[in-house]
Amino acid sequence: GTLAGVVEYRNVTFAYPGAESPVLSNISFTAQPGQTIAIIGSTGSGKTSLLSLLPRLYDPAEGEVLLDGVPVSRMDRADITRRVALVPQRPYLFSGTIEHNLRFGKTDATDQELWEALQVAQGDEFVRAKKNGLGSRISQGGTNVSGGQRQRLCIARALVSRPRVYLFDDSFSALDVATDARLRAALKGITADATVIIVAQRISTITEADQILVLDNGRIVDRGTHQELLETSPTYQEIVES
Ligand code: CTP
Ligand code: MG
Repeated sequence: GTLAGVVEYRNVTFAYPGAESPVLSNISFTAQPGQTIAIIGSTGSGKTSLLSLLPRLYDPAEGEVLLDGVPVSRMDRADITRRVALVPQRPYLFSGTIEHNLRFGKTDATDQELWEALQVAQGDEFVRAKKNGLGSRISQGGTNVSGGQRQRLCIARALVSRPRVYLFDDSFSALDVATDARLRAALKGITADATVIIVAQRISTITEADQILVLDNGRIVDRGTHQELLETSPTYQEIVES
C-alpha cells in the first residue's frame, strides 16, 4: 500500500545549526517494511543525529530523507508523527498517570491495547505490581520510576501508537541481557510488517538485523549482516571485541 513505511536516506549531509562541520556525511540507505536495520558506532559517531532527521527534529543541509518515496521536507510533522515513532535515547515521561503517558499519540487506545503493549515491552509486571496499576502517577520526567522502567514505558508508548516505522535509539541498553532478549523476541511479532531501525550498543541486540550500518565520524564506513561484517569490517570487529 501507499503507507507502507519505506524509509530512504539519499546522500544526506547534516550539520547542527551554527556548526561548521557536518556530523553526518553522505548517508544513504533504504529500510523496507518487515526489515530491521541496525546502526552501530562509537559515541558521537552520529547515530542519534541520523535518527532525528526522519521525524524532522532537524532538516539535512544536503540530500533527502524520504518516507514512502516522499521527501519528509514536504510532509507536515503531524503526518510524519502518525507514521513514525521515535523512542528517544533519553526517554521522556511527563507528569500524569501511566495511562496518560501510554495513550500519548493515540488517545483512543483501549486498556487492552495498553496492556498488550506493556506486555511486549516487558513492563506489565511492574505496572501490575503498583497499587493503582495504569492509574499510577508518574512524576515530571519520570523520576519516580527506574531508568529501565522508563525505557519500557516509552517503548510501550511507541507500540500503542501503531506506527509504520519504529526508531529505537539505544532503547535496550538499560535492560539486562535476558530482558533485552525477551523484549526483542516479543517485539518481532508486533513489528513484523513494520520498518524497524535500531541504534544499539550491545552486539547481541542486533545480530539478527537484516542490515547493520557501521557509523564512524558521521559516515557509513561498512554495511552488511553480522556475519558479513565479522568477516569484512575492522571497525565492526573492534566494536565486537570492546
Ligand atoms: N552534536 C551537536 N549538537 C547537538 C547534538 C549533537 O553538535 N545538539 C554533536 C555531538 O557533539 C557529536 C555529533 O553531533 O559530535 C554526533 O552526536 P550524536 O548523533 O548524538 O552521536 P551518537 O552516535 O548518538 O552518540 P552516543 O552513542 O553517545 O549516543
Ligand atoms: Mg546517541
